[in-house]
Amino acid sequence: MTSSAGSGSTGSRDDKVTEAILLVGGKGTRLRPLTVNTPKPMVPAAGVPFLTHQLARARAAGVEHIVLATSYLAEVFEPHFGDGSSLGLSLEYVTEKEPLGTGGAIRNVAARLRSGPEDPVLVFNGDILTGLDIEALIATHRDSGADVSLHLTRVPDPRAFGLVPTDGNGRVTAFLEKPQTPEEIVTNQINAGAYVFRRSVIDTIPAGRPVSVERETFPELLASGAHLQGMVDSTYWLDLGTPQAFVRGSADLVLGRAPSPAVPGRRGDRLVLDSASVAPDAKLSGGTVVGAGASVASGARIDGSVILAGAVIEESAVISASLVGEGARVGARVHLDGAVIGDGAVVGADNELLHGARVWCGAHLPPSSVRFSSDQ
Ligand code: GTP
Repeated sequence: MTSSAGSGSTGSRDDKVTEAILLVGGKGTRLRPLTVNTPKPMVPAAGVPFLTHQLARARAAGVEHIVLATSYLAEVFEPHFGDGSSLGLSLEYVTEKEPLGTGGAIRNVAARLRSGPEDPVLVFNGDILTGLDIEALIATHRDSGADVSLHLTRVPDPRAFGLVPTDGNGRVTAFLEKPQTPEEIVTNQINAGAYVFRRSVIDTIPAGRPVSVERETFPELLASGAHLQGMVDSTYWLDLGTPQAFVRGSADLVLGRAPSPAVPGRRGDRLVLDSASVAPDAKLSGGTVVGAGASVASGARIDGSVILAGAVIEESAVISASLVGEGARVGARVHLDGAVIGDGAVVGADNELLHGARVWCGAHLPPSSVRFSSDQ
C-alpha cells in the first residue's frame, strides 16, 4: 500500500486520488416534478447542471478519471459532458440495464477503473453539495489503512439519515439506518455520501443484482471485520434531494456560502445568465438565478429562487424560495413561496402557492379571481 509521509489535510501531497465514481442513476422521486424530464444531477443549480459543481470540485482535488454510473434518464449525461475534456477530466459512462442501487452501481463500473487493487477510489453520491476537504479524506484513508473511509457530518436531527458512530480513533463501530427512538440515536454523525474505497473492496460487492451500499455493503464489511474509518468534516453540507434543499443549495452557491469552481460569473446576490432579460425595476435577491432565455417583467420581486431556462415571470409576481421549471410561465401578481413549478407549466395571474405546493409539468392553473396584495 502507498504510505503517506504526513497526516491530516495539510500533510503530504501524496494524499492524492486520481479516480472517482459518481452515482447519478437515482430516480430523484423527492424532487419531482423537476426530475420528470431531467435526472437530479442535471437540474441546474447556480446556472449549470448540479453535477458540474461536483465534477469541478473533484478535478480541483486532483481527480483525473471519473466513471458516471447512470440509470434513470441515462441518455442525457454524455451529450452534455462528452469526454470531460472541457473540465480537464476523462469521463466514462456506464448505464445499468436495471437500477442496481448504490452498491450495485459501484460494482457495475469496476471494469472501467484503472486503479490497482490497493489504490484509493473516490465515490460520490450525485446529489450532495459539500465543501468536504477531499484531500483530507484521502489522507485519513491512507493514514488509517482503512478498507473504506467515509465522510461523516453532524446534523441536529439525524432521524432521516444513516447514523455512523465511531470509536475514539474514528473507526466505525456500527451503521444504524434512520433511527427513531432516543435510545437508537446514539450519535449525531451521519453518512454524508462521499467515500474512499480501497479498489479491491469494490470487487467484493456482488455483481449483477441490486445492492445498497448503505444497508448491505457497509454493515456486511463491518461484520466481517473490515476496517471502516469515519472522518467528521463539518464544513458546508447539503443533501439536495428535496426541492427546498435544492433551491437553498443553488442560492448558497450564488451567494458564495457553498464552494464551487464552476459557478458562472461572480458570486453575489443574484446570477442572471447572459441571454436572460430582467426589467430594470425587478428586484432579484438572496442568490436568485435567472436561467438562459428566461424573462422577468417589471415590478417582479424574486428572492432565493431558481428560475430555469426560458421561464417567463410576469409583472409584479412575488417569488421566494421557489423553483420555476424550464419554459414555465408565472402570471402577473402571482405569489410563490416554497413552491415548485414544473417544466412548461402555466400559473395564471393572481394565484398564491405556498409551502411545498407543486405544479406538475405542463399543467395549467387558471387565473385566480382573488387578488392578493403584493405589498405584504
Ligand atoms: P430519491 O428517489 O428522491 O430518494 O432520490 P435518489 O433516487 O437519487 O435516491 P438517493 O438520494 O437515495 O440516491 C443517492 C445517490 O445514489 C444519488 O446520487 C442517486 O443518483 C444514486 N443512486 C440511487 N440509486 C441508484 C441506482 O440504482 N443506480 C445508480 N447508478 N445510482 C443510484
